[in-house]
Amino acid sequence: MAPRAKQIQRLAWGGTAISNWQFAIFNSQFPFNGPHNPQLDPWPSAMARAMTAPALQGTRFRPRALLRILSFLRKYPGRVAACVGLLLVSIAIEMALPQIIGNTINGLRQYAQEAADFSVWPSVRLFLGLVLLRACLSYLVGTLRNHTTQPTLGDIRAAIYNALQRLAFTYHDKASTGELISRATTDVWRLQDFLHACLLLSVDIVVSLVATTALIYSISTSLGWAALGTMTPTVALIAVFASKLRPQWRQVHDLHGAMTTVIQENIAGVRVVKAFAKEQAEIRKFRDRRDTYLDSLLRTVNYWAARVPLAQFIYGLSLPLALWIGGRQVIQGELLVGDLAKVVFYLMAIGHRVGMVGMFTNIMQNASASAERILEIIQEKQVLKSGKRPLPPGRGEVVFDRVSFNYTDGRASLHDISFTARPGQSVAIVGPTGSGKTTLVNLIPRFYDPSQGRILIDGTDVRELNLNQLRRSVSVIFQETFLFSTSVAENIAYGKPTATRKELERCARAAQAHEFISELPEGYDTIIGERGVSLSGGQRQRIAIARAFLMDPRILILDDATASVDSQTERRIQEAMRRLCEGRTTFIIAQRFSTVQHADLILVLKQGRILEQGRHEELIQRSGFYREIFEQQIRK
Ligand SMILES: Nc1ncnc2c1ncn2[C@@H]1O[C@H](COP(=O)(O)OP(=O)(O)OP(=O)(O)O)[C@@H](O)[C@H]1O
Ligand SMILES: [Mg+2]
Repeated sequence: MAPRAKQIQRLAWGGTAISNWQFAIFNSQFPFNGPHNPQLDPWPSAMARAMTAPALQGTRFRPRALLRILSFLRKYPGRVAACVGLLLVSIAIEMALPQIIGNTINGLRQYAQEAADFSVWPSVRLFLGLVLLRACLSYLVGTLRNHTTQPTLGDIRAAIYNALQRLAFTYHDKASTGELISRATTDVWRLQDFLHACLLLSVDIVVSLVATTALIYSISTSLGWAALGTMTPTVALIAVFASKLRPQWRQVHDLHGAMTTVIQENIAGVRVVKAFAKEQAEIRKFRDRRDTYLDSLLRTVNYWAARVPLAQFIYGLSLPLALWIGGRQVIQGELLVGDLAKVVFYLMAIGHRVGMVGMFTNIMQNASASAERILEIIQEKQVLKSGKRPLPPGRGEVVFDRVSFNYTDGRASLHDISFTARPGQSVAIVGPTGSGKTTLVNLIPRFYDPSQGRILIDGTDVRELNLNQLRRSVSVIFQETFLFSTSVAENIAYGKPTATRKELERCARAAQAHEFISELPEGYDTIIGERGVSLSGGQRQRIAIARAFLMDPRILILDDATASVDSQTERRIQEAMRRLCEGRTTFIIAQRFSTVQHADLILVLKQGRILEQGRHEELIQRSGFYREIFEQQIRK
């Protein structure tokens, strides 16, 4: 791995970093090139990032998406203007430096030939002054650039985060966690290069190329044509090569994504991997993905490395051409030696920028895919609209009125569901796995909206209710408990951060959780590991129950809350839940009949339809599906 990785790194630098050959020439011979001097500025690393950044999708160039991202800069017009303004001054200084050198050489020549009065000191002082000024400008431009792009990236991240909070469950059902995380991190990170490139690199390339060509032209028309004649095909070639590479880079990024997925899954599923002793197989799987990725990366950078010398060669012709044409003009007395020197320096300065065209193209390509991926989240329309009406007074009557629902794939998951849960009643929902129990209760707090029919809470359609008030009045204890990686106290107080420690303890006691929490190393201040791994399933459920207690909801939903615990813990949780349910309308999804028997209303679901509803005794007498599954369980 190590030598191979090194090889790739070398290729990525020597091959894909298109302007490196120019950097190499100009850093040694032309020490005053622009503010993007790689030794002063992180551009090469930006370039390497642009070239090797992972998980890029789509290969089309999307100017509209990029413009939308650029519009985030509108918040900082002063800084953008200052940045560009200072950069222009810096470029102007850079353009002046060859003039000073050329004029000095002309002066020296005159001095040597005609013994004219001449001193180099004014030029040296001016040169020094300008170089110093430019160094200060570089510093200022760099600082300003960071103070412009970093807050802008912060704004983009905030926009993504806001969108993720607003997006409906239907969106989250389809999006993969890894994908969303990658968009909120890697893709934003890639836009940093884009913003830098738009703010500085684009201005630098365009202004410098135009200005230097014009300056060479003003010195000598034929040299101007020579410069254009070599520069244009070089820029065109680099642009063509870069665009040819787009699909190849896309493949590299996709393979990188596949490799990352293996890592991600291995971390998330480490217990399963170890339980099945599949470590070796997983290592092999990773190696395979890594090798495929490396092969594709090598092919791509090799392609680049093989074509750069051609561009290099064509542009390299500009210098001998200038020496030939300019030299003849000097001999014929049409051009001063110092002016030829100016042209040579200008050609070198353009070479530096010509090389940057490739880097710019790559940054734009990468960024346009990233921009689109980010905008897909920010501009996503699947946002649940909140109603306007406040929660009416009442004690939690829930009515399902001919409700049908299908997830977006068109398959109906619930058909024509009608029932009434009176205030304070407990409603048990039973049925085989996949029959739609979770789906049914998810409609109450509007995690999804019914496709047909309506749901009323205390007489008002949930779609008309203020969403925040609705969600605060309905507490859900999910099939899988999620705890944040913070303290126990913060987890319990999640819905009501202002709760006092006394309130938290009261709720924890009611949830039968106080006892084990007190035994934790730091009691309520104990930090829970990621996803609460340091707690048992039953303990986590009891924390979730305490969290629901604290919200004092009108309606409570318990989804299979006792499925994964032993009978003693189950008794404790049932006791906790009995207290929690008092005085509220409660929906309980449970597999065990010990939990269901005492419910005021039992809904028996099968394939998304209510087969039977009533109390336990009634349903048993009816000898239907309920009785069938009840007897099955008793026999076990
Ligand atoms: N987010 C979703 N997107 C699309 N289909 C879904 C989604 N969630 C569930 N389904 C489908 O809807 C049907 C009902 O699922 P639901 O989760 O409500 O069943 P359940 O009765 O709660 O099952 P279990 O007892 O296993 O929890 C199933 O066919 C399932 O495949
Ligand atoms: Mg379920």
